Amino acid sequence: MEFSNITKSGDGLIFDSHAHYDDERFDGILDELLPKIHKMGVDKIVNCGCDKKTVIKSLAIADKFPFVYSAVGIHPCNIDSDTTIDQIKEFAKHKKCVAIGEIGLDYYWEPQKKEAQKELFIKQILLAKELSLPIIVHDREAHGDTLSILKQYNPKGVLHSFSGSVEMAEEILNLGMYIGIGGVITFNNAKRLPDVVKMLPLDRLLLETDAPYLTPVPYRGKTNHSEMIYLTAQKIAEIKGKNLNEILEISHNNSSKLFNL
Ligand code: NI
Repeated sequence: MEFSNITKSGDGLIFDSHAHYDDERFDGILDELLPKIHKMGVDKIVNCGCDKKTVIKSLAIADKFPFVYSAVGIHPCNIDSDTTIDQIKEFAKHKKCVAIGEIGLDYYWEPQKKEAQKELFIKQILLAKELSLPIIVHDREAHGDTLSILKQYNPKGVLHSFSGSVEMAEEILNLGMYIGIGGVITFNNAKRLPDVVKMLPLDRLLLETDAPYLTPVPYRGKTNHSEMIYLTAQKIAEIKGKNLNEILEISHNNSSKLFNL
């Protein structure tokens, strides 16, 4: 596989708060890719497992590379997997586990099984609270239910790849949570996301890739990786009237604080 080399336009360090290097697209190339992007300024990565199989893979990657950490959880799309909350609790004891995630609600894909998704989400929020860990939340086409559960249980964490309205962002901020922004902000059809970034206080911004997905412009169609965060940060810097390094530094500080690193 070919990876795009980003021309580095800043010297700030990157903290990628959300990636999936356990994805099979990265099989066999991590030994080359991860040290290379680490050298290019990718300082830390939180890799998210989404069921037993990907959590085991994610923790193994974190074991191998000192700058990679892991979140462990059952993704709402894996509602039918045989992964149990007890297994997640065991995985969460790993020394490189920094969060419960990714967890949440996904009403985009059929069948939706909304009640079962909500129950699984709540159980994992309670587990995170019991273990004093933050959560990483996935919300696709489920803004209302996601918000009402977060309001009810008030966990600490991040709403990843935020796709809600400005009003929803305000409610998330009122709960003390962070908002994750990735490559979508560089898309022409980003719709209301630029307005969310405009109002978002910088001390609540986390940068993320969701690699291998959501590759920023102009590399759409290629496999995403953490160094591409420069492009996302550049776009945010333009919207906020800041420079690239300020955006990288503030989001690095925010991620370090949330994940206790
Ligand atoms: Ni993800």
